[in-house]
Amino acid sequence: MLTSDENDFLARVGPGTPGGEMLRRYWHPVATAKDLTDEQPTKFVRVLGEDLVLFKDKSGRVGLIGDKCPHRNASLVYGRVEERGISCAYHGWLMDCEGNIIETPPERNDAIMRNVKATAYPVQTFIGLLWAYMGPLPAPVIPHYDIWVRKDGRRKVTVRPRLDCNWLQPMENSADSAHLEILHQTSIGGDKQAVNTTRGFIDDVEMYQYHTTDWGALIKTRTYKNGKADAHPLIFPNILRVGDRTQIRVPMDDYHTHHFAVAFEPSPNGEIIEEDDLPTNVMEPFKDPVDALYPVAKFRIKEVPEQDYMAWETQGPLADRTKEHLSFADRGVVLYRKMLGESIQQVQRGEDPWGIQRDPDHATIDTNLDESLVWERVGRPAGINTETIGSTNDAP
Ligand code: FES
Ligand SMILES: [Fe+2]
Repeated sequence: MLTSDENDFLARVGPGTPGGEMLRRYWHPVATAKDLTDEQPTKFVRVLGEDLVLFKDKSGRVGLIGDKCPHRNASLVYGRVEERGISCAYHGWLMDCEGNIIETPPERNDAIMRNVKATAYPVQTFIGLLWAYMGPLPAPVIPHYDIWVRKDGRRKVTVRPRLDCNWLQPMENSADSAHLEILHQTSIGGDKQAVNTTRGFIDDVEMYQYHTTDWGALIKTRTYKNGKADAHPLIFPNILRVGDRTQIRVPMDDYHTHHFAVAFEPSPNGEIIEEDDLPTNVMEPFKDPVDALYPVAKFRIKEVPEQDYMAWETQGPLADRTKEHLSFADRGVVLYRKMLGESIQQVQRGEDPWGIQRDPDHATIDTNLDESLVWERVGRPAGINTETIGSTNDAP
């Protein structure tokens, strides 16, 4: 159980909040590379409580700029892109990707061009996604996790439905091992029957263990009674790698979260593949009506991702952790909260939080991907349906 202040300290993401300042030390995907086209070169995005516009100018550069024009606040989503940047539709003020105001029609106002800047953040394209950095410069680098940088395979991007709750709910779930055998019992059993709905497949598990790594991950290990074990890293602060994919949860604001998944399929013979245009798939919403919240919205709960979304969203738009009662099985959640609290305090002391990489040439970070890929194919104990998990891809 947390106090209301502790809950806000960890969960809130807006500018100036402790958690928001910590999250701004990392690069985050905010859209897919396919979201900007010549026909539709702008896109509104809300990230970490800020309303922003992504745009691709006619020289091919991508910018991320405050939605409100610095002149008189019209939205730049309707701006017209030019060679040098984006021109506000209302009176034509022209901004470049760095937020410099480079024209102020009808007059040329040097004082404004010198003294006023639009909010602007650096953007880079990586593994089929557009990534933004919204913290103080110099920016770190996007860490070279094996699953993101290995060349011997193909990647595929999936955009999951918008998650209508705070980002911490899916992240705590990623440190919550025991839910697999209960919440997902109808999806993981294959031909085997759960003993009853209360225990699901929990009695197949000998123990759950948790430890942290120096590269900024919380590893949860599940050991089954038949001696097999699997391990998954929660990559701090907002990424889960399970099996062949990463799930990246990016806060839009305190009550909504972007959810991207990037899968990696190794080439059968280790062949190096030049990837450029990554296949990108957008998932249908898991609930109806799509814009409603529980209890008006009803979730489908047949597949694993739907079951997870149901659990995360019904905890509330921002879970009230003053009303929870943690048990021994929640110790992974407690450890993750500890990492989060310590990282926020590191940022408050002017230090880098967990897992920040600043060397552009740093070695590939081994997330133990190979072992997970083998496990996905052959490692699961009898009774755990590999096919179902493989097709839904995020059971643990
Ligand atoms: S409001 Fe954008 S140029 Fe006037
Ligand atoms: Fe789950």
